[in-house]
Amino acid sequence: MLRAIAGILGIGMFVPEKVLTNDDLEKMVDTSDEWIRTRTGISERRLADPHQATSDLSSKAALMALEDAGIAADQVDAIIVATMTPDMPFPATACLVQHKIGAHRAAAFDLSAACAGFIYGLSVATAYIESGMYSTVLVIGAEVLSRVTDWTDRSTCVLFGDGAGAVVVGNINRDSGVPRIMSVSIGADGSSAHLIHVPAGGSLRPASEETLRNRLHYISMSGNQVYKFAVRIMGDAVLEALSGMGLNKEDIDCYIPHQANARIIESAARRLQLPPEKVFLNINKYGNTGAASVPIALCEAKATGFVKSGDLVALVGFGAGLAWGAAIVSW
Ligand SMILES: CC(C)(COP(=O)(O)OP(=O)(O)OC[C@H]1O[C@@H](n2cnc3c(N)ncnc32)[C@H](O)[C@@H]1OP(=O)(O)O)[C@@H](O)C(=O)NCCC(=O)NCCS
Repeated sequence: MLRAIAGILGIGMFVPEKVLTNDDLEKMVDTSDEWIRTRTGISERRLADPHQATSDLSSKAALMALEDAGIAADQVDAIIVATMTPDMPFPATACLVQHKIGAHRAAAFDLSAACAGFIYGLSVATAYIESGMYSTVLVIGAEVLSRVTDWTDRSTCVLFGDGAGAVVVGNINRDSGVPRIMSVSIGADGSSAHLIHVPAGGSLRPASEETLRNRLHYISMSGNQVYKFAVRIMGDAVLEALSGMGLNKEDIDCYIPHQANARIIESAARRLQLPPEKVFLNINKYGNTGAASVPIALCEAKATGFVKSGDLVALVGFGAGLAWGAAIVSW
């Protein structure tokens, strides 16, 4: 039997309305619009309202992706929510999304691979489709990072934002013109797990008065070390995904990276010898939205015509774990 082919049938995104600008941050911590823009490329980010949780953002992005695909929610076989900010420790946010969008038939689970989570989710969905186990899988990357951001720490609070992106992955015909997932490659290096983490709130250090007092429920990061790792891995991961397909970096038409820092993206693109016009950037509007960043970028790249039919698209993500992943899609 011929192996089924996985493709992207539809795509959607959602960002909350509330905008937090660099000027707003100047009133909260000792920083400046100039520092944030030149060091990170970020001008503003979106923040969820107090009543909005990750499942709410996820559901809106998912419904847009399903509409784009022309697929009803009850046709979905599985929902994967990649997130490091679930609504609660359990149940899985994906189960809450299943109920909110009415995808009654779907299996539902969360996937924890931080900012590489969407690419990890894509690898799982692709394997489900290619094995014949499922024919329609919803992959969502979503975060409400503002809830784990220490708004008194200027070295991290300027970086993050909230949002969600989603794709419907399905079984396609080779000549259908639907974007085809050609290759997905994922990896991790747990020896550097301490470089970016939320130290408390899990089984190692459950919530206590002491963990609250020491602000251990917020993101803690060694920015410089993560920066160096990111520049290297954002090139290497793409080369790994290309290898074995007889393709090389010159074949890439569009590079859609995790939006963590514009300088990281520019350095990684230089290492791959990709000209700036092939590199998609929207970090100025949203900051780092974790697992949501790659699908949001892909959604906007498609909507603005940056990605066109026939393009070879490289998606790449990296983050806490340390974990990384890249996917090559023939659009
Ligand atoms: C965080 C990051 C933007 C910091 O940029 P940088 O150029 O490395 O800056 P440094 O950390 O070397 O700090 C330089 C100075 O700016 C200061 N600074 C840090 N944050 C600041 C802010 N928001 N406003 C003003 N000054 C700030 C530092 O205190 C330091 O001052 P000092 O020299 O007097 O000690 C950068 O390291 C980065 O993006 N790292 C990767 C983070 C990332 O991608 N994380 C997510 C992974 S998914």
